[in-house]
Parts: sequence; structure tokens; C-alpha cells
Amino acid sequence: MKLSFLATVGSLLAFATAIPAPSSYVVHEKREIQNGRWARSGIKLNRDILIPMSFGLKQRNIHKGYDFLMDVSHPESSNYGKHWSMDKIAEVFAPSMETISAVKTWLAESGIGEDRITMSKGRNWMKVDVTVDEAESLLRTEYHAYTNVKTGKDHLACDEYSVPSHIADHLDFITPTVHFDATLKLKKKRRDLAKREIGVKPHTNSKLGTAVAEASNVKYSLANCYEYITPDCLRALYGIPNGTFSSYGIVEYTPEAYIQTDLNLFYSNLQRQIPSGYGPTVDLIDGGVVQTTTKSFDDNGEADLDLQYAIALVYPQKITMYQAGDIVEGASFGNLLDALDASYCTSGGGDNPTYDATYPDTAKGGYDEPENCGTITPASVISTSYGYNEADLSAAYEIRQCNEYMKLGLAGVTFLFSSGDTGVAGENDEGEVACCTNAKCAGGTYNNGNSGTFNPAFPATCPYITSVGATQIKPNTAVTATNPEEACETVIYSGGGFSNVFAMPSYQSSAIATYFANHKPTYTSTQYNNSETVRGYPDVAANGANYVVAVDGSLQLVYGTSCSAPVFGSVINQINQQRVAAGKAVVGFINPTLYANPSAFTDIVSGGNQGCGTAGFTAVTGWDPVTGLGTPIYENLLSVFMALA
Ligand SMILES: *[C@@H]1O[C@H](CO)[C@@H](O)[C@H](O)[C@H]1NC(C)=O
Ligand SMILES: *[C@@H]1O[C@H](CO)[C@@H](O)[C@H](O)[C@H]1NC(C)=O
Repeated sequence: MKLSFLATVGSLLAFATAIPAPSSYVVHEKREIQNGRWARSGIKLNRDILIPMSFGLKQRNIHKGYDFLMDVSHPESSNYGKHWSMDKIAEVFAPSMETISAVKTWLAESGIGEDRITMSKGRNWMKVDVTVDEAESLLRTEYHAYTNVKTGKDHLACDEYSVPSHIADHLDFITPTVHFDATLKLKKKRRDLAKREIGVKPHTNSKLGTAVAEASNVKYSLANCYEYITPDCLRALYGIPNGTFSSYGIVEYTPEAYIQTDLNLFYSNLQRQIPSGYGPTVDLIDGGVVQTTTKSFDDNGEADLDLQYAIALVYPQKITMYQAGDIVEGASFGNLLDALDASYCTSGGGDNPTYDATYPDTAKGGYDEPENCGTITPASVISTSYGYNEADLSAAYEIRQCNEYMKLGLAGVTFLFSSGDTGVAGENDEGEVACCTNAKCAGGTYNNGNSGTFNPAFPATCPYITSVGATQIKPNTAVTATNPEEACETVIYSGGGFSNVFAMPSYQSSAIATYFANHKPTYTSTQYNNSETVRGYPDVAANGANYVVAVDGSLQLVYGTSCSAPVFGSVINQINQQRVAAGKAVVGFINPTLYANPSAFTDIVSGGNQGCGTAGFTAVTGWDPVTGLGTPIYENLLSVFMALA
């Protein structure tokens, strides 16, 4: 008896030492400043409602992502072009079993059994429905009901939350917590363009002949590209050849949609070699709809522009259009990434329900099926002309999404994003110019854009994408490949500046050091992060003014970095076509090669990107936060990339 008693005590003691010491809690995320768009409603929370809580688990090896990507993308790397398979990417970055079991154990100790937990395919999200009481005790916080001051929509949030210190390293973030539901996401995700009527009357397809007659009065030619940009102008400006290969995707978010009759009108006026009825290959994501129920510049301008120019420049090869989101919810960048990479999806749909659309969408007319998860093989070049303010989204969310662009770069995808149309300023939910009311743009509170802190754009500031700014042809000058343009200052200003979230990538450090050494702006840290250690954007530029685009039955002049991104994408697609013909890999993530070869660009040295009551930054010799490295010289870029393995 005694022996066995001792044995029991012994095993009890052994057991006791195996239990982790009660962990102290540490604050994991905290909202620094109240968000002006949401107010506490004071409504007492119903303790029985279930909160769908998602735990973003820390991925393994993510801190090595930059080096992995440089290994396959840096021009001096012996592994240049040796891109990874999506399976390898998923495996290398999946959270470790240790992370999964640490979080599960914590939940179990808090009374949340494993049977209630679901895991995402890529093992990077854990999801569980919890009561308000469970959530408050789990995260040592208090939840409050909030109401959106504009829409009246309700939302549940806390001001900060804590997790045990031994769990903190296993978690990126938890939702819903300090983040605000972004049901305004479709408005906030702006289309980077503006418009001016050309003076050709609106007409329908049935009056196409009239349109040809009217439009031909304008006499588009290389002599007046400074007034009217056409595909022929762009070919002449940058030396872009015709297409013989295409793996080029253009992304549109519902309700934005192209109209086939607009494409036809464009071809018949400007690209007669393209037959009427010719369109993109359409890949629908999450119930994507190429809707025709509402027509306006806002509904069609972006898609018509993107497709007309990408199609014209890559013709006779096909463009792939990704139409993302149903008519009710639409979609976000996160939803697109889910469709391109199964490892990014959550168990329940959408990568973060705070910001992304969730499917199945049970609303009337919604896409009532599971979200697309890894259903699309990504094109080699993907251009997107939409963006947010960096301050609209939480840093944790942005870092996670940016890492996904890194992974797709590893897989050999070139991601291009427009840099924004409001210079150093951003835009509010209504599409008006907006700057930040405090340093670092904390809390996403904006003023009327006449003063305040510069408001950088996302994903333009993500170091794993190529950000494209806008230029214009100098007035009354001819289009030649050697005549430099200037920063766009007509209707729009090229988005550019420095990130409040992302550190400076090494591929950019010498360009940024040179910029500050020779052209240090006079602004202080109250205007932008002037530490010379953060990511600067854009990376490159292309023409963004006076595009002749057929929209809703008439030819209009369109402006924006929305024009620039798909044009730069066409240049990269054409470089891929030459590399593939030579038996080489596509280029994938291009920034390290671009920064190592500034002479492949026409340097833009005049114009600026005013905003927030300042003149903004100025385009200068070398890289600058207005036009980046400059505009592409196709022949030079081609020889740079052809010289690589
Ligand atoms: C490209 O295609 C257009 C239209 O088919 C043609 O006029 C032009 O000569 C072609 N350019 C080259 C370099 O082949
Ligand atoms: C600027 O960025 C650096 C590096 O991220 C950071 O340490 C610093 O606090 C930032 N400065 C301001 C004023 O936000």
C-alpha cells in the first residue's frame, strides 16, 4: 500500500510538473485610436449569441519568405526562375503541429473542446463558434456593440485582447476583435481612375457606323498621343511588340463589369485588326457575374479600360479575366487569393470575415455555394487596378495578405497593382480625396484631403508586388521611345510615398538611399515616415492620361494608374513570351531585377504627386516616390530578362 501510495504521489507530482505554469496574459492587439466610422451603440449584448471566431495561426518559415523569394527572383541567384510548386509552398509555410496543438490545448483548457474546432485546408486558420462569455474570458476582454455612423450596421468589437504569453507567438491575430467589419469594402476598394468626356455622343451598338464616323473625326495618330492615348501610342512609346503567347490575367470585382459592345466599339475605332465579338477568357470566382443590369462609368469604366488595352496589346493572344464575387457581396483581394491558392482559404470561407466576402452567401440572389478555394491556376502575370488605403485595414491583415503575394511570387506569378490616383493622399469611402488626421494614419480616420498626414495605398506598399504609377506625355511633344514623359498631373496624380506598415526591402535600399541622399524632401515625420527604412512606392510607371476608352457606348478619355498597370502587365507578358519561346521560365517576381537594371527604364524627372496641402514628392533623376524607376523600354527590359537563366 505504502509503495503504491508513494508511486501515486510520485506520478501526481510528475503530472503536476508537466502542466505548464499558469501563463501570464499579454495584450495581442489593441486599437490605438477610436475609428471615426464606428461608434459604441451602448446596446447590451445578448450573451447567447454565438461569435464565429477565427484564429489566424502563425505560419512556419514565413520569416524566411523574403530570402526564399530572392533565391528564385534575384538576377544574381543561381536558382533564378526555379519557381516552386503550389504544393511545396503550402507545405513549407503551413503552421507547425506544435502551433496547432498549442492553440488547441489553450482552447481545451478554456473549456472549448476539439470537437467544436474546424481547421482550414492549409492548416493556417482555426475556427470555432463561441458565446460572448467564452470570448471575453478566453481573450480577457470585453465586447461592445458598435454601429456604423453612416450605414447603421451593427458590429461586435473589443478595444484590445490578450492571449497567454506562450500562445502569442503561435498567432497572427484573432477575429472578430479590434477590427471593424468592412462591409464598406466595395466602396473603399477604389478604382484608380477618373474620366472626362471626349465629346462623342453616346450611341448603342446598333449605331456603330455613326460612332466610327464621329470618332474618326478625331484622327487618332502618333502626332496627338499627348491628347489621345491609343494602343498604337503605347506600342510606339514603349516598343511593345504584338503577342504570340499569353498567360495574363486581369482582375475585376463585381459589380464592375465589361460590356462586349464597348469592346466592339473600341476595336472598330482603334484596333480594326480585332474582330467584333472578341473578348477575354472569363474565369468566374465565387459566383462572379459579368453583370449587365446597371450601367455607368462606375460600373463599366474600369473593366472596359483594362480589357480594351490589355486585349489590344496582347492580341492575337487571349487575356484571362477573373471576375470575382457575386452581385450581393462582391469580393476582395483575399477572395481572389483564396481562389488562386487553396492554402489561403479559411474553413468557413473568406480569409478574414472582417474584410472579405464570405461564401456560401445565403442572401437572396447570392452565391450559395462554398467559396472557390484553389480552383484557379494563376496566370503568370496578374494586373489589378483596385486598392485600399493602408490605414483602412489592420497591419496584421495586410502583412498576412502581402505574404501571400510572396508565395505566389515563389510560384512564378508577377503581381501588378496600380499605385493610386490621389498622389500622396488617399481616398475616403465616398471616393473623395482624404489624408490622415494623425501620424502613421492610426485608426483610419481621414480629413478632407487639404492637410494632414500622407495616406499610402495598399497593396501598393506590399514589397512583394510591383506597384505602377502614372505618367503623361508632355504637351505638344511627339511620341518617341526616347522622349521622356512627365509625372501625370492631368485629372489625377500618381500615387506614391512610403509605407507605415512595411519595412524597406533590400532590393530597394540602394535606390531609396540615393533618393534621400540627392533629393531629400523637406517634409517631416508628421507628413510621412521619413526614417529611410520603410518601403517606398511605386516601383515603375506607365502612361495614365487621356486614354481613349469605349464606355457605355461612347468613346471617353480616361485617366489613372488603372491605365498604367494593365499596360505594364502587357510588357511583362510579352517578355514572358520571349523567355518561354527560348525554353526559359516566366519572370515571376520582377522587382529585384528591375531595381538592379534602372537603365531598362526611361527615367521620369519632372512633375509631382501633390496632396494633403503639399506639392507632394517630385519626380527626379533615379528612383522617386512618384514614378518609381520610370517607364519601360521594352527592348532593354527584354535583353535584361533574356540574359538571365
Ligand atoms: C502588330 O499587329 C498589327 C495589327 O495586326 C500590325 O499592323 C503590325 O504590323 C504588327 N506589328 C508587328 C511588329 O508585327
Ligand atoms: C517609421 O518606420 C520605422 C520602421 O518601421 C519605425 O521604427 C518608426 O517608428 C516609424 N516612424 C514613425 C514616425 O512612425
